[in-house]
Amino acid sequence: MIVRPAKRIDGRLVMPGDKSISHRAVMIAALAEGDSRIKNYSTSVDCTATLACLQQLGVRIERSGDDVIVFGLGLHGLCKPSRPLDCGNSGTTMRLLAGILAGQNFTSTLTGDESLRRRPMQRIIEPLQMMGARISSHDGRAPLVIEGHRPLKSISYELLVASAQVKSCILLAGLSAEGRTEVIENEPTRDHTENLLRFFGAFVETGGAEREGSNARFVAVEGPAKINAGNVSIPGDISSAAYFVAAALLLPGSALEVVDVGLNPTRAQFVEQLRELGFDVEITDTGLESNERVGFITARGFEQPRLPNNSQPFTLQGLIIPQLIDELPLLAVIGSQIEAGIEIRDAAELRVKESDRITTTAANLRAMGAKVEEFEDGLRVSGATQLHGATIDPRGDHRIAMAFAVAGLLAEGETEIKGANCVAVSFPEFFELLDSMVKR
Ligand code: S3P
Repeated sequence: MIVRPAKRIDGRLVMPGDKSISHRAVMIAALAEGDSRIKNYSTSVDCTATLACLQQLGVRIERSGDDVIVFGLGLHGLCKPSRPLDCGNSGTTMRLLAGILAGQNFTSTLTGDESLRRRPMQRIIEPLQMMGARISSHDGRAPLVIEGHRPLKSISYELLVASAQVKSCILLAGLSAEGRTEVIENEPTRDHTENLLRFFGAFVETGGAEREGSNARFVAVEGPAKINAGNVSIPGDISSAAYFVAAALLLPGSALEVVDVGLNPTRAQFVEQLRELGFDVEITDTGLESNERVGFITARGFEQPRLPNNSQPFTLQGLIIPQLIDELPLLAVIGSQIEAGIEIRDAAELRVKESDRITTTAANLRAMGAKVEEFEDGLRVSGATQLHGATIDPRGDHRIAMAFAVAGLLAEGETEIKGANCVAVSFPEFFELLDSMVKR
């Protein structure tokens, strides 16, 4: 894909459904008694992989336009699949399904593409084994062979890594456990599983964990749970919208409105940080939809950027990192445009995403002329750089391809993104939409 410099981007954007919420909605609907309609289901290849896995587990699913109808089989209705379940590139599919499969009375195998087979799975293997499932792996990596156990033992588990996928895996397993399964997290992560389980009628308790001077929280479910079918409307994907918001803010004269977008506070931190930086971006919350905050985002590019002129880089670190995790490569690109640059720390998790996002972000920013220092847990990007067009290798990572498409709009000359169709992993419409909104 060739990306050429842009003057501004303009218009009103309706986002496809949120990827994280879509995965969860169909998985929970599959465990419900009865039929659920999921409106505005994510168009991502990742979410299509989730549907295919559920179908292999015997769930009837009909897709019509942007809607998906799931004919739920109840907590114990899934069937043993006849071949390995292929999660493709999707960590969420693998980690969340593992939680469901741990509580079945059959053995199943989860596998995925080369990138997914490199990613750490010990983080879910350990708690699921504590709950009574038997799991074999390739040194903590997929393929995972899961010998389910029914009922599972309930546990109280403190997350070792701040991961919504691990939290969700344990909560989904907890639905088929006997008694109360509790997850304690020291850093808040996205809470869509909790929200949707409640929406589908399961009992979920949340609160502050009693520890002095900590931000720890607990989430607990009661098993065996009874899940009622329901109709869910998936809000637009804020992580996909982020690329458009960034482009609008960085191209003077741009005016963008993103409508019907999810504004869950555990996902909207990206916008909060941009506001802190002095960018003209606003969130308007219009209410709850299927137990998730929704609304619109407006973003305008300054004629004359009025950004802080500090000598210290703008620093992102600590508790907010898990809530910004998918937007960090894009924030690094934005950092190359602000005075004094940006520093991202406490983000070692980036190394075990679809690619090593610290290395891929640093290498591609350097290729475009930015000065970047890499750390084990993050990077520092020097500020206010005029990027130049380059050949970008996203190493098959959708978020890197999209972040550098934005960089290409700001650069001098042409940017070539190799293997750009990897954007379909989360956002197949990305380039077409971008092209339709860009003014040259
Ligand atoms: C996701 C959680 C995050 C995120 C991923 C989607 C989810 O991963 O990076 O894109 O849907 O739960 P971790 O929770 O493992 O950090």
